[in-house]
Amino acid sequence: MVPKKITTHILQNMKANGERISMITAYDFSFARLFDQAGIDVILVGDSASNVMAGHETTLPITLDQMIYHASSVIRGVARSLVIVDLPFGSYQSNSKEALVSAIRIMKETGAHGVKLEGGEEVLESVKRILAAGVPVMGHLGLTPQSIYKFGTYTVRAKEEMEANKLKSDALLLEETGCFAIVLEKIPAMLAKEVAETVRIPVIGIGAGKYCDGQVLVMHDLLGINTEFKPRFLRQYLNLHEPITQAVQRYIKDVKSNDFPSEQEQY
Ligand code: KIV
Repeated sequence: MVPKKITTHILQNMKANGERISMITAYDFSFARLFDQAGIDVILVGDSASNVMAGHETTLPITLDQMIYHASSVIRGVARSLVIVDLPFGSYQSNSKEALVSAIRIMKETGAHGVKLEGGEEVLESVKRILAAGVPVMGHLGLTPQSIYKFGTYTVRAKEEMEANKLKSDALLLEETGCFAIVLEKIPAMLAKEVAETVRIPVIGIGAGKYCDGQVLVMHDLLGINTEFKPRFLRQYLNLHEPITQAVQRYIKDVKSNDFPSEQEQY
């Protein structure tokens, strides 16, 4: 049977019906296929690829070409999930025309279903222009890692009233402009609850508590491939670091001792 493809419209209905939305990051064909077949609703080709795939300290260095490479690999593994791709740092901030050109490149060259970008009022012109071209846009507020050098730390955002008020008004602006969903990263749970109850579009949280309409995690964190990153909001479902290390150590031992390959494993 052909699986029913997830659309932005379906996500909207899920929120209306109180059905939580599951989202995970992926950066390559093989994992995207696994996650799609497992039944995930949304796959995010996050610019966290800069950290977990390329080993950079921040998300800033990853380029549009690199994001396109990851996203086109992911798309080839997906039959059902909605695939959203991050616009990387530097591909949309300078002006809305550049933002549109970047979004169009992503849509044309990857086959993805929409883009995500960080910020509220500051990026509204870009959001409008991308939406006007028919490209679905997901917003991202709260801790926005592309602005890490402005924040200075990865600590919880919008704890103070002024920042919380700006976040709430940004969420409303993104909704009014036509974004189909918003990611809220690392903010107090009660603030995320207020936003999720105010806007009609789905609010997907990461470190934003249980009242969001859905949750997103970075695959390497969820699967325990990274051992160093253990924020309070992370639920680690596997500890892949250990079995992978053990398997590779067994392989090394077998090669060194000439146990691998055996008679049966050769032609
Ligand atoms: O890049 C990413 O993985 C993200 C998620 C953390 C939401 O933006």
